[in-house]
Amino acid sequence: MGADLYRAKLTRDGVLRLITCGSVDDGKSTLIGRLLHDSQAIMDDTLTTLIDDSRKHGTTGAEVDYALLLDGLEAEREQGITIDVAWRFFATPRRRFIIADTPGHEQYTRNMATGASTADLAIILVDASKGLLTQTRRHSFIASLMGIGHIVLAVNKMDLVDFDEARFRAIVADYTAIADRLGFAGFTAIPMAARSGLNLCARAAEMPWFEGPTLIEHLEAVQLDAGSDARPLRFPVQWVNRPDASFRGYAGTIVAGQVQPGDAVITARSGKATHVTRIVTVDGDLAVAGTETAVTLVLADEIDISRGDMLVSPENRPHVAQQFAADLLWLDEDALKPGRSYLLKSGPLTTPASVTLLKHRIDINSLDERPARTLAMNEIGLVNLETTAPLLFDPYTECRDTGGFILIDRYTNNTVGAGMIRHALRRASNIHLQPMTVTQAQRSALKGHQPAVIWFTGLSGSGKSTIANLVEAQLAALACHTYSLDGDNVRHGLNRDLGFTDADRVENIRRIGEIAKLMADAGLIVTCSFISPFRSEREMARQLVGAERFVEVFVDTPIEICQARDPKGLYAKAASGELTNFTGIDSPYEAPQHPQLHIITATMTEADAAQAIIDWLRAHDIIG
Ligand code: ADX
Repeated sequence: MGADLYRAKLTRDGVLRLITCGSVDDGKSTLIGRLLHDSQAIMDDTLTTLIDDSRKHGTTGAEVDYALLLDGLEAEREQGITIDVAWRFFATPRRRFIIADTPGHEQYTRNMATGASTADLAIILVDASKGLLTQTRRHSFIASLMGIGHIVLAVNKMDLVDFDEARFRAIVADYTAIADRLGFAGFTAIPMAARSGLNLCARAAEMPWFEGPTLIEHLEAVQLDAGSDARPLRFPVQWVNRPDASFRGYAGTIVAGQVQPGDAVITARSGKATHVTRIVTVDGDLAVAGTETAVTLVLADEIDISRGDMLVSPENRPHVAQQFAADLLWLDEDALKPGRSYLLKSGPLTTPASVTLLKHRIDINSLDERPARTLAMNEIGLVNLETTAPLLFDPYTECRDTGGFILIDRYTNNTVGAGMIRHALRRASNIHLQPMTVTQAQRSALKGHQPAVIWFTGLSGSGKSTIANLVEAQLAALACHTYSLDGDNVRHGLNRDLGFTDADRVENIRRIGEIAKLMADAGLIVTCSFISPFRSEREMARQLVGAERFVEVFVDTPIEICQARDPKGLYAKAASGELTNFTGIDSPYEAPQHPQLHIITATMTEADAAQAIIDWLRAHDIIG
């Protein structure tokens, strides 16, 4: 169940949203279970079942095993229900709480990030007998990136270290160094033994040296930041509500600020000004609507607004840009590939986007910046991104909802990254396209044929270059203007800085795609012979060039045959381990699913393959 559902049910005022982070066995589930129980939030029948269950399965002898309360979620997860973050409610006479329980295992950073993106406070659990772990640092860093202002360092399992004050102080000193660098607004450390409830709701006689608050006292007292109603209006339009000609409203949720009938607003994208006339909801019109309210706004003027646009305060507008810098947390097992086209989703807007530069990666242990060419799962880096459509945003530190985004893999549909925007890139606003006097059509007319890009993909030794050469020779004989781009050749010049890692291959094909586009623009028929192992980049090349003039030719030769041919002796080197990252051996090849031409070399001669391509060009009116 998502946070959104609960958001809709609860007003923000006075509710503290918190998240607990820790490694496996730090006692996270126990802490949450105990907190819920001790604040009398557990319903009686649940408690009865719990006591029964813990007699049967518990690991704590006669005591109630609080972890069992939450472990039911594991079962839900096994049944394939996507509850990666468990949201719990509890209340004391002084405050209401929403607590996100996130699995602590290394690969669950994604869930922690999800929980953190709406939380006000993070409880970072540390096992007193173990001290700070890499996970502690990672979670703290993510909490700070995600805009959590308040940290509670819960030094748990104090019973295992004989309630030793010195041990507690040493861990707190270690952590203070981290907290200082991450710049949390508030940081409080509490020694505890969650299983016995010590210093959770009741003060622990075992630790008389500790004079600070219990966990619940602290949670009740912590001062939240000023309400987001006071901030400038941000209303991303989810959809245009137009049931009939007499009504037109814009539906969405106010993510920052508040709105009243009569308020002046403008559309962020086009800058059109108007004012709000009505705030419509299912329960009738409102006189004022604040942050996190779902409403339909009716405007005084008919202006052109579509999904993904935003209604905002005229005096404080969001940025509109296609290039920006962002902190990026990588969440997928497949590493980040700078240059690859992913989908970026920010509020209601989804647009293709790619990382144009990875500035550095953060070393989680030292918090230092390190040079990097990719981000592996759970790694964090600072990147520049470019989107296809202009993005409307605020810096994440000013507004989490309009400054945050996720990246989605276009093929697997997995959420692969979570990003926090820092600022627009200045250079983006200073570069404009120069109009050209001579058009592409004029260039083609002079050449007597249409431009095209014939893209050969296949394993090394599959016969791409041989067929490409035959095609180019035939085209030249037909007086066509051609050029041939070939892997080995380009890697001697323009791409001599690139190797054969996945990231370098992505960049290789990105550059070739751009060059092929320029050459097609110049009016040429270009043959491109590259292994080009990833679907995603071949697709990118197709989009750059234009699908109508892009011919994907899959040169399909089984690897055994390529190996037997081994024209450059590279398969032999790869087999002996002398050459690594070799396509088909220890580096992937994603065969095209819908190529324009599928050349099965086992059943077709190279000359026939070349002829098939010439025929295709004729049939598609590229050549006469
Ligand atoms: S691609 O994967 O980035 O598209 P590209 O087509 O440019 O590769 O280059 C492939 C050529 O580089 C191969 O034909 C081969 O001659 C050579 N080569 C050298 N090392 C490798 C390797 N590890 N994997 C594949 N090809 C390699």
